[in-house]
Order: sequence, then C-alpha cells, then structure tokens
Amino acid sequence: MSKKYMIKTWGCQMNEHDSEKIAGVARSLGYQATNEEKEADLLVFNTCCVREHAEVKVYGNLGRLRPLKEKNPDMIIAVCGCMTQQREVAEHIARRYPFVDIVFGTNKIHKLAEMIANARIAGNTVLDIEEDDGGKIVEGIPVEREDGIRAWVAVMHGCDNFCSYCIVPFVRGREKSRRKADILNEVEELGKKGYKEVTLLGQNVNSYGKDLPGEVDFAALLREVDRVEGIERIRFVTSHPKDLSEELIYAIRDCEKVCEHVHLPVQAGSNRVLDRMNRKYTRERYLDLVDRIKNVIPGVSITTDIIVGFPGETEEDFEQTLDLVKAVRFDSAFTFLYSQRKGTPAERMKDQIPYEIKHPRFLKLLELTQQITAENNLLLKDSVEEVLVEGISKNDPERLTGRTRTNKLVHFKGAPELTGKLVKVKITDPQKWSLYGEMVDREVEN
Ligand code: 5AD
Ligand code: SF4
Repeated sequence: MSKKYMIKTWGCQMNEHDSEKIAGVARSLGYQATNEEKEADLLVFNTCCVREHAEVKVYGNLGRLRPLKEKNPDMIIAVCGCMTQQREVAEHIARRYPFVDIVFGTNKIHKLAEMIANARIAGNTVLDIEEDDGGKIVEGIPVEREDGIRAWVAVMHGCDNFCSYCIVPFVRGREKSRRKADILNEVEELGKKGYKEVTLLGQNVNSYGKDLPGEVDFAALLREVDRVEGIERIRFVTSHPKDLSEELIYAIRDCEKVCEHVHLPVQAGSNRVLDRMNRKYTRERYLDLVDRIKNVIPGVSITTDIIVGFPGETEEDFEQTLDLVKAVRFDSAFTFLYSQRKGTPAERMKDQIPYEIKHPRFLKLLELTQQITAENNLLLKDSVEEVLVEGISKNDPERLTGRTRTNKLVHFKGAPELTGKLVKVKITDPQKWSLYGEMVDREVEN
C-alpha cells in the first residue's frame, strides 16, 4: 500500500499554487493523493492570515486533528503558509498543538523530505521558517497541477508596498521576480503538455522585474509569453493601480492571447482613506486609469477588491466608495470587512470602526456590486463569446462549463470531449452569477 498525502489550502491563488508544489514534492517522495484526512500519512495545512477569519478557520481545523494523530501516530502533520511565517504564531502552534510535526514557511517547500525525516527523529515539532540564502527563489520544484487545461505560474513572490492594513509584506517578504527564462521555460513546458491557459501570479505583477537589473518589465514579459506555442490564453493577477503602465495597457490590447481582463483592486473610494491605506494613488487617478484602460482595450472587464470599515472611515468616505463603484461599474468585486492584522500600521490606528457600523456598510456595498455584476451580465445577452471549456458543469451533468475571455462563467450543452477546447457560445440567459448559452460553432484551430 502506497503512502498517501492530503493538503488543505486556505487563501489566495498563490497559496493554491504553493500547494501544487507541496503536492509535487510529496509525489516525488512516493505519496499518492487522498481526499480523506483519516487516510493520510502526510497531512498539510497551507494557511492564510490576510484576514482574521482565515486564521480562525485554521485553528478550528487544527483542534480536530488530535484524535486522528492518536489513532495513527505515524502520520505526519505539517502546517505551513502565511500564518506560520510569523514566528509567534509558528511557536504558538507548536506549543498549543504538540501533535503537529512540522511548521514550515512559504519558501521551504523543497525541503519537505528533510523536514519529514527530522520530525521522525525529533519527537517534538520541527520549526523551519527562516529565509535561507537571502530568500532566493528556488527553481525546479515539481508541480502537481490538478487541471490539465489551466495553470498558475508565479512570476514573482512577496510585496514591497506595505499597504497599511496588509500583513502580506511581513509574511511573504520583499518582492522577488523570477528570471524571465525560468518563467518562459515553465510556460513552454505547459504548452507542450497541452495546457491552454496560464495565469501569471504575483502580489503586484506590475512591478515585475524591478528587482532584477537588466530584466524585462511586465509588459515585455507578457509579449514574450504571448508567443509561446500551444497556450491560447494568458491571464495575470494582481495589478496595483499605482504601477500599471501605459505599455502594459497596450500589451494587453496587442497580445492576442492575453485576455481582456484587469483585476485592479481599488480598496476604497475616498482620498483620505486611500492615503491612510498607503495606496499611493487618488480616486481621480484611479478613475483616469480605468478610463484609459477602457478606451484602449475594447470590451475589457475590470474587477476589483474593496475593503469596508478601514480605521477612521466616515459615512462620507464610504459614500465615496459607493460613488466610485457606480462610476466604474466593475464586472465583479471582492468585498472585505476590514480585519485588524497584528503588526500592521493600521492595527495601531486609534479610530477602529466597530462591527455594528462597518457590517451594514459592507452589506450595502455588496448589494450594489452584485446588482452591477448582474446588470453587466445582462448586457451580454445575444452576444457570442469565446469560451475555454473546463469540463462538465458541477451542478448539471447535462451541461459543460467554461469561461469567457473576461473570466465570466458560462454553462451550455455540449459533448464532454470539448473539454480543453475553445468554442463559441451565444449567451441566451445571463444570470447574476453565471451566463447560460448555446454553442454556435467550434473553433477549427484546436
Ligand atoms: N482586512 C480586510 N481585507 C484585507 N485585504 C488585505 N488585507 C486586509 C485586511 N487586513 C484584502 C485586500 C486585498 C485582498 C487580497 O485582501 O482587498 O486586495
Ligand atoms: Fe498587501 Fe498592498 Fe502588497 Fe497587495 S499590494 S499584497 S494589499 S501590501
């Protein structure tokens, strides 16, 4: 019987992608995947700490593991990711949950075998969170991707922006870009393996290359990735509005494979709040940027992240956020209640907003953004969209599911063999969360 691994992941796409690397390493060590915690010989929790809610969930899940470990003392339990990058949290986990064998950092994935071996001998929790080698990016870690069609490719790690509410720069460290050649090699390999879509990942992809003198910038990187054979679609997240260059707007327009979608977190609509958030742009500059993007890229979709209840946010500040949302009319918006994160500048701000005030604001914003999403979807009725087929719909075995270039989910009838192909779908019934349509024709090319 082969050994089994299971990974539970919280948080963003970068974390999901890290889990694919953990899976890759586990497989190279002879483990097979399982979805059953109780079957696992290696159980990994890949954690997130961007909001308190994510941490609470991890602790809840950790508490449940004791009986599992008592039943199967040979099982290795590991906790990694952003939460454990904070030394006091890592030490707390080791103390409070002594059945955890390994606590490791986001850049220690390649050392999994060594950590497992050490944990077997140590008899207490092995803690490995310090940066090695100046935090240099480790290349060549095997990646076990779940899907054979769409793949994440990290182009950079870390963040230098220090938005005052955000813990990411403290846990993921300074910005480090991968070498262009390494990125292109990875995308070329994916193209050869039959992958159709890549999403380039970074906390702020627009500052790609700034830390590598002589390396290209993100716009030029996109132009090169666009030439990789086999790949049909290129996406990227996340863009910081302060760094989105004119060249990037033109690169998105010019590159055939780069999808017309920009995820552009605005966070707030009031200049006073944006300044206290240390976002380094004003609402006027943001609105101007959106106008320029919309003018240059026909049919572009703009999506965003918004935080409600940042310290000191007044009713008037909040109204300005609503007003900005009405002006931009985002195709979709992730809305978050501000969460006080330990060690961030905003944590120490005196004027924290009580839940009773921020929660109704959150609900009001949610209603507005969802209404606009639905209205934007309605505009697509009768349009014909290019859809990359992802497979059989989860809710309806009769239908296939895929996404438009603008990242909207589409359900339609078709043969399962179309999975991985680009098809044309006429949108007949646009709904709030997804679009229903009918396939009109199959692209001949693929
Ligand atoms: N509270 C609430 N939301 C946050 N985000 C980051 N930090 C916090 C916080 N402390 C949100 C931002 C970011 C997204 C990934 O998470 O909107 O863009
Ligand atoms: Fe956090 Fe700001 Fe960096 Fe995004 S850009 S990860 S919000 S510090």
